[in-house]
Amino acid sequence: MTTVPFLDVAATARWVARRGPQAVIARLIDALAADFARWPELDKRARIASHSRDGVIELMPTSDDTTYGFKFVNGHPRNPARGYQTVTAFGVLADVRNGYPTFLAEMTLLTALRTAATSGLAARLLARPDSRTLALLGTGSQSEFQALGMRAALGITRLRAWDTDPGALAKLARNARALGFEVHEASSAADAVTGADVITTCTADKTNATVLTQEMVQALAHPGVHVNAIGGDCPGKTELDPRILAGADVFVEYEPQTRVEGELQQMPEAFGVTELWEVVTGRRPGRRGVGRTPAGAGAPFERGVGERAALDATGVTVFDSVGFAVEDWATLRFVHDDVPADLLRHLDLVAEPDDPKDLFSLVRAADEAGAPDPDAAPGDAAPGDAAPGDAAPAGRADDASARRALDRLMGLAGRDGRDTLLAGTAARRG
Ligand SMILES: NC(=O)c1ccc[n+]([C@@H]2O[C@H](COP(=O)([O-])OP(=O)(O)OC[C@H]3O[C@@H](n4cnc5c(N)ncnc54)[C@H](O)[C@@H]3O)[C@@H](O)[C@H]2O)c1
Repeated sequence: MTTVPFLDVAATARWVARRGPQAVIARLIDALAADFARWPELDKRARIASHSRDGVIELMPTSDDTTYGFKFVNGHPRNPARGYQTVTAFGVLADVRNGYPTFLAEMTLLTALRTAATSGLAARLLARPDSRTLALLGTGSQSEFQALGMRAALGITRLRAWDTDPGALAKLARNARALGFEVHEASSAADAVTGADVITTCTADKTNATVLTQEMVQALAHPGVHVNAIGGDCPGKTELDPRILAGADVFVEYEPQTRVEGELQQMPEAFGVTELWEVVTGRRPGRRGVGRTPAGAGAPFERGVGERAALDATGVTVFDSVGFAVEDWATLRFVHDDVPADLLRHLDLVAEPDDPKDLFSLVRAADEAGAPDPDAAPGDAAPGDAAPGDAAPAGRADDASARRALDRLMGLAGRDGRDTLLAGTAARRG
């Protein structure tokens, strides 16, 4: 029987704890660089977004000629006030030769790691190499990972953090100090960015916010500051004063997607940007003197090649990050190769009858093995199961068979166990 390895949330957390979160992010930066260097070979498309009043649910597919992958992810900025995460995700890899899934993983933690690694890759290419201080605007779920990404990429150990929620700010300070960072709990966004070499905006608000102004960047931050803008990632959801973009060199993941979802939605179509893969491969320059050949990137990492001169030490760079499918696919493949077997579970996810054309044989075999079904609708009842007059109404029968399917999926023997579990979930959700 083909089973599909599955990495759940607890196992992901254990894997990260074993390896060390910064070490994982550092290795992911290299994995991303290697895949960005293969950009022209990859299947690329803007993600499919389903918007609703409270947020968005997105599907993010990509592939090469051997491995397909997609991520399911949501973004609901008001979720934390209701006790839920703003972002949750899971992802799948599949073999393009037969289309069978080969790996299934939670991707909420993995998204935080990959987003930190993507910011790290951008910073390695675009920030000044002598950067020492990071301003973090927004100290929710992504923030510790973003801090670790900057330490992995640039050796940054000083944080200046700001959040409109004092509880979130205190949480970041607590976690970051435990990780060895020196933390300044700022009294405002302007206080946070004062003297910063890198600014990461990771706020969640479904509006065109101005978390960072041009005045802060020009007058308060260190000259030559690099900005990672990660929270503006949906139509109508941005963080930056557009004048910052107008005065900066702007880098994106995949331009067609970022034009719709990123800070770029505030700029005219003709506003020029550089895709990050072009810097990874040396087609376009990053900041002079920064970076080294990404491990596994293949081609030599030439500086100053391309239409524009290499960026100098005083120019502002912006990485307008929205999150792109290639990053999740690279992460899933990295995790699949790195996670030890003892952390994986195996799911019976692929139907495999002996005769590939006899899918019904699975139902037949289960029916022969199973007990009579008291809730079955008349047409489905096995001979002798129940008298026609005793059969449940069709709606009830559907409900009952859905309940039994759910019980089987959850590995519960009967309805009582399922009800207890669902009641527990409802109680936790309030
Ligand atoms: N670019 C990417 O690849 C990527 C990946 C993951 C998440 N995101 C985005 O990053 C953002 C942060 O995600 P998260 O999971 O940390 O969310 P979160 O809800 O856990 O944290 C967001 C924080 O922003 C704070 N905030 C809101 N408005 C603010 C403001 N004006 N100034 C300062 N702080 C403010 C909130 O109080 C909260 O603590 C979200 O918008 C999410 O959609 C982007």
